[in-house]
Amino acid sequence: MKKVKEELEEIKNEVLNCKKCPLYKTRTYPVVGEGSHRAKILFCGEGPGFNEDRTGYPFCGAAGKILDELLESVGIKRKEVYITNILKCRPPKNRKPKSEEIKACTPYLERQIEIIKPKVVCALGNYSTVFIFEKYGLKNQIQGISKIHGKVFEVKTLFKSIKIIPFYHPAVATYNRNMKEILEKDFKVLEKFK
Ligand code: URA
Ligand code: SF4
Repeated sequence: MKKVKEELEEIKNEVLNCKKCPLYKTRTYPVVGEGSHRAKILFCGEGPGFNEDRTGYPFCGAAGKILDELLESVGIKRKEVYITNILKCRPPKNRKPKSEEIKACTPYLERQIEIIKPKVVCALGNYSTVFIFEKYGLKNQIQGISKIHGKVFEVKTLFKSIKIIPFYHPAVATYNRNMKEILEKDFKVLEKFK
């Protein structure tokens, strides 16, 4: 069996050369994801923004600063978790992801989850929540993020169980103090999973 490191390396090489959707034309660097290969908690955002596109690292701009603060507030180190996105390349001007792009790109995310085997998948924002809920057969439980943020959904299969937790996207807290407080409150649920 191949090692986790090699399998993630394979994904990285594929993503770096990927042309499966038109976003490759406008990206500077794809953002594959980073963090612990044995992470118990995996965070999935929407897609790279300006700073991420320039550096190749996820959540390294303003939204990343919020995410760092949220992690710190519950005593979780960024290097202990894995952080990635549903789209690996930046949509121009940070526009919303298109469904064809999500369809083309999410097999990478699915493989990342398959390889890392986190106990908890945290979906950041609406797009990520919808994708993750559909993937895990929770489609009938999708309501607006304002209804389900911070709630723990458990999906059991024959051999394993995985927890899915939707959160507001940290970017909303860069311009809204109330949102930061809601996110801080919601993140407390992660204390029991670290
Ligand atoms: N927003 C996201 O959804 N992902 C990032 O990596 C950065 C900002
Ligand atoms: Fe490939 Fe995803 Fe980038 Fe599209 S967004 S080119 S599918 S890596």
